[in-house]
Amino acid sequence: MGRVAELSGVSVRTLHHYDEIGIARPSTRTAAGYRAYSADDVERHVTAVEPSAVMRGQRPAGSAPCLAAAAEGLPFEDRSFDVAMAVSTVHHWGDPMAGLREMRRVARRVVVLTFDTDEPGWQDRFWLTRDYLPEFAAVLDDFPSLGDMAAAIGARAEPVPVPWDCADGLFEAYWRRPDAYLQTHVRRAMSVWTRVGPEAEQRAVRHLRDDLDSGRWAERNGDLTGLDAADLGLRLLMA
Ligand SMILES: C[S@@+](CC[C@H](N)C(=O)[O-])C[C@H]1O[C@@H](n2cnc3c(N)ncnc32)[C@H](O)[C@@H]1O
Repeated sequence: MGRVAELSGVSVRTLHHYDEIGIARPSTRTAAGYRAYSADDVERHVTAVEPSAVMRGQRPAGSAPCLAAAAEGLPFEDRSFDVAMAVSTVHHWGDPMAGLREMRRVARRVVVLTFDTDEPGWQDRFWLTRDYLPEFAAVLDDFPSLGDMAAAIGARAEPVPVPWDCADGLFEAYWRRPDAYLQTHVRRAMSVWTRVGPEAEQRAVRHLRDDLDSGRWAERNGDLTGLDAADLGLRLLMA
């Protein structure tokens, strides 16, 4: 298992999760109950789809082959993939529902990491949006409901709590490490800031810095220090 994790570049914990949700199953188990992966289990043929030339240009050497296309019109035949996956991207699509239907068409299974705006008051789940960047709500104004997106692909939804030391640099990653949002390079890896514009960004950062310096942030958010993970609205749709 350690070797498979090394070869495939995913952690042992992630491989266990893939097994549990049926994305990548070991073909056998050893007598001691360890998962045993054959060469076929490990071999994956991944094709990326990316409409942005800038993003395509930033793909590291050795990444999966990438097609210049958009989710709303996938250049693939029906059922030509085992799994179609979309991570933190649906809110960027011009027509999310059309893109999801396309994923359903081309793959036997569909996995989508997205955001739940169904719950009233969802804007207040994360202190950054609630207290410093209310403009974030407008970014998701026309976003379809989680229920509609799940129905489009026939999926069930599971909450994805964000661990306090989340290694991905997504918008919600630093909920317990507020100083991180003061760093320009951290914000530049999050598309939200570009979407709200430089004025809102500068104001949010200024107010956050003031509140961290004065102790006001700690006063308001003291309850977070005891949490290891927080549900900030991320949801995994699995079909
Ligand atoms: C926040 S990034 C997420 C990238 C990657 N999935 C990850 O988790 O690191 C969103 C990506 O969606 C791409 N995108 C925007 N519109 C799209 C569309 N209509 N179809 C497919 N991808 C799109 C953007 O170019 C960008 O690369």
